[in-house]
Amino acid sequence: MRTLKTLFDRNSRWAAAIKERDPDFFLRLSNQQAPEYLWIGCSDSRVPATEIVDLLPGEIFVHRNIANLVVHSDLNCLSVIQFAVEALKVKHIIVCGHYGCGGVRAAVDKESHGLMDNWLQYIRDIYRHHSALLDTHPDGPAKLNLLCELNVMEQVWNVCRTSFVQSAWDRGAELNVHGWIYDVGDGILKDLDVTVTNHAESMSIRRKV
Ligand code: CO
Repeated sequence: MRTLKTLFDRNSRWAAAIKERDPDFFLRLSNQQAPEYLWIGCSDSRVPATEIVDLLPGEIFVHRNIANLVVHSDLNCLSVIQFAVEALKVKHIIVCGHYGCGGVRAAVDKESHGLMDNWLQYIRDIYRHHSALLDTHPDGPAKLNLLCELNVMEQVWNVCRTSFVQSAWDRGAELNVHGWIYDVGDGILKDLDVTVTNHAESMSIRRKV
């Protein structure tokens, strides 16, 4: 199929509906992007950033990858964080994982996944780092969900360690880094209570993870 007509039809109806509610919406958006939030989430199709928190286009700057990882050699993710912090001056960076994450499951299922195994290696490192806690749980969904939570906390720490976030705190900018997890089963977000708002708090997160 050369054209996905259904999606273009849906797009027309969506744009028309927004314009009906707010005739200047797209004009305003085309002139300025000023989101307060950067969302770093999983690519999973069930975890769309804007919809989950019921915000409109223009309100969240988004980066997504498999298992919501923040890797210090990933130029894509680092560029997004830099732009969000230095150009957009977002006030909040949200790392949002989700229960039942296929990436997290694939990292520990002992199967081979090709290229992706190299990406998932970061999650295996997290498992190893927390193996004393994780190994007290029997294999199963609860253990995987605990690893999903630990992964979010580790990524919050990774965000805090980026030079852009450190510099923002140095110059006294308001910048809060949050760790959340989403339950695909009921649509509810949970705050993992690892919010970091300055250098000192980032060290206390280090002690948690
Ligand atoms: Co996922």
